[in-house]
Amino acid sequence: MIRAIAIDGPAGAGKSTIAKRLAAIKNFVYVDTGAMYRAIALYCIENDIPPVDDECMSQALEKINVTIDYLDGEQIVFLNGENVNGKIRTQQVGNMASSVSAIGKVRERMVALQQELARTRSVIMDGRDIGTVVLPDALVKIYLTASVEIRAKRRYDEYVEKGVECDLETLKKEIADRDHRDMTREHSPLRQAEDAVVVDSSYMTIDEVVAEILKIADEKGL
Ligand code: DC
Repeated sequence: MIRAIAIDGPAGAGKSTIAKRLAAIKNFVYVDTGAMYRAIALYCIENDIPPVDDECMSQALEKINVTIDYLDGEQIVFLNGENVNGKIRTQQVGNMASSVSAIGKVRERMVALQQELARTRSVIMDGRDIGTVVLPDALVKIYLTASVEIRAKRRYDEYVEKGVECDLETLKKEIADRDHRDMTREHSPLRQAEDAVVVDSSYMTIDEVVAEILKIADEKGL
């Protein structure tokens, strides 16, 4: 068993918000694995590379170097030396990340990087395959979910707040499509680990979800 909290779940379930809060409370390092796939997706978008299969991605991967650093507790993702945190949070990059992450060679590379990050520190890591593949020995495993409607509405509210134009029905469809891709892909599909505890955040506040996970961690002695 390793002293880690693994949080998996579909897009928009609140994983990163919750994980950041938990990391601050427990003084663990927060590792956002989605950001790593997003960095590779950004490379594909900027270089017109369709992420079709292992072969085309093998060539691209030779030119891609994704590294992680921490600045004042915040995770910074570097793509070939450039800090890309400001570029990877768009819906376009998220959708591309979902396609890129279905490719075996990409996963191999990213899983190795994630395992290395967890080797020397206590982490809270969120993603799709953390409890099942990346950290199967994590002491605490959470499967955080919420209904498609609620997840789409949360994204919608986020965009409206940022002044980004969007349409709720389109967001709902994109989230449902992303769920489908992430859950049905051949390599490490999103699924609940057998020993994960399901937390449905649909009708819970952030504070309630944090409290629930802290209770689960406490019961496991973490
Ligand atoms: O969590 P996110 O929205 O930043 O993730 C973007 C995409 O990356 C998501 O659609 C699936 C993929 N992903 C993955 O396959 N495995 C992970 N551990 C994290 C993300």
